[in-house]
Amino acid sequence: MEVYLCAMQILDGQIVSQATKDKLKLKTGQLIAAGKKVPHLAAILVGNNGASETYVGSKVKTCEEIGFKSTLVRLPEDISEFKLLSAIQDLNDDPDVDGILVQLPLPKHISDEKVINTIDPSKDVDGFHPVSVGRMVQGLPTFIAATPHGIMLMLEHYKIDTRGMHAVVIGRSNIVGRPMSILLSGNGNPGNCTVTICHSHTKNLKEICLQADIIVAALGRPEFVTADMVKEGAIVIDVGITRVTDPTKKRGYSIKGDVDFRNVAPKCSYITPVPGGVGPMTIAALMKNTYRACMEKN
Ligand code: GUN
Repeated sequence: MEVYLCAMQILDGQIVSQATKDKLKLKTGQLIAAGKKVPHLAAILVGNNGASETYVGSKVKTCEEIGFKSTLVRLPEDISEFKLLSAIQDLNDDPDVDGILVQLPLPKHISDEKVINTIDPSKDVDGFHPVSVGRMVQGLPTFIAATPHGIMLMLEHYKIDTRGMHAVVIGRSNIVGRPMSILLSGNGNPGNCTVTICHSHTKNLKEICLQADIIVAALGRPEFVTADMVKEGAIVIDVGITRVTDPTKKRGYSIKGDVDFRNVAPKCSYITPVPGGVGPMTIAALMKNTYRACMEKN
């Protein structure tokens, strides 16, 4: 019989995100009372990918809740790259717009790289522009990509001292895995971790994960991280949000994380649930970035 000694705590993204949004709402109210400009986020959605619709919808709705202005630019799936770049340029040139995001993924005929490079770095609230990424790598103040930023805010909220910990990041995407590895290895708290970044070519993944004090699962494969891969007392952050067909659900699918929560949770000191963990923090971090963009400009 296995005996688990640690008390597991849920890292509740709903609570932390709400606290962050409440603070921003208060500050936005003060801007309005002082007759100042409120932050304005412009989101571009190309095509009608169901998941992207949901995410952009949540971003716009959160702007409304906080008192930010938002603009949703919907463009057809077959829009030319040139026209999309022109739409971004229009938002760059609009002095009322503080933050711009183009929801990814984009249709195959459009280059993510050209799109990201066209966004004015001073409005790059997604933190994807090479200027933002370069500044993050150098530890300079900048916009940090919303998902890793949200994870750092959550670790900070729960006062988790990550100094000296071994963090294993599974996934090397530009949106999550790579920036996460940079932030966790950075000179701060949270931070100062020894980081291993794993991907599809990694050998002995299970052995590496078993050495982790923190696992960040960001590979997009439902329930990939199983209990036999997790050390007793580890902190597990689940970034996965895959839609899995589920006829028992009215909408026809359920959301699955990258971690087998039911079996992994009893071994953890802290773990994020899906939904209600990293997802809400991503939106809160985007709102923080938008507020910051507005403050820096005005
Ligand atoms: N697609 C998945 N995550 C993100 C994100 O954080 N920003 C944008 N623009 N697209 C995404």
